[in-house]
Amino acid sequence: MRSKIVAGNWKMNNDAKETKNLVKGIRKAIKRFPLANTRVLVAPAFVNLRSANKKAKKSNIEVVAQNMHQENSGAFTGEISADMLQSIGIKTVIIGHSERRSIFGETDELLAQKVNQAIEKEMEVIFCFGEQLEDRKTDNHFTIVQYQLEKGLFHLEAIAWNQIVLAYEPVWAIGTGETASPEQAQEMHAFIRKLVQEKYNTSVADNTSILYGGSVKPSNANKIFSKEDVDGGLIGGASLNIEDFTEIIKAI
Ligand code: PGA
Repeated sequence: MRSKIVAGNWKMNNDAKETKNLVKGIRKAIKRFPLANTRVLVAPAFVNLRSANKKAKKSNIEVVAQNMHQENSGAFTGEISADMLQSIGIKTVIIGHSERRSIFGETDELLAQKVNQAIEKEMEVIFCFGEQLEDRKTDNHFTIVQYQLEKGLFHLEAIAWNQIVLAYEPVWAIGTGETASPEQAQEMHAFIRKLVQEKYNTSVADNTSILYGGSVKPSNANKIFSKEDVDGGLIGGASLNIEDFTEIIKAI
């Protein structure tokens, strides 16, 4: 059975103290209600991963990375490898976030290399993808999403999909306050699951968690998460606030 997941992407926010306080606050808040089949993940900045992981110890919070490099080691100034992440207990990494694609120029080919590296290193990947506003306006959103999945993931063997979580994030909804409607999210998630089923099989498709991301807030989480093929959310802005993030976790 696929898990429900609520993941907070903290992006370039929070210094050392703020990070610890946020983990502490979420930890305390989620103690108060059951988390049946639900995983709670947070992705702090690289420099705060270690202390966040320490603070999250023996709790239901999993600390994950926002990015990593595709090589093992070497002359790649400013980069972080899978081995480094694993050496501090990080087992999951977000790959292909739209900000990595658009601001840092990460291409589908590069993302496929990063995915391969993570799979080889036995890490779990939260693979992000989604269309731009222009694509949706011109009715190209399904084509774009299919292309991103084919380029980034469909070269993998079925067995590797044990390590894959999908995060559909329409770019026009990220940080804009504009959310896809629950119906738009469901329509796309069902399309994605069908693509995975056709490429692999029903078991892979049924066992893959597909998260929605893009302006998820306490006020809309319930409706979005109630859709059959939406298995949780990747939360940006609202994950920086203990109360909001907790409400979103409750919604699932
Ligand atoms: P948002 O970000 O919730 O602030 O829209 C989502 C994301 O970037 O993953």
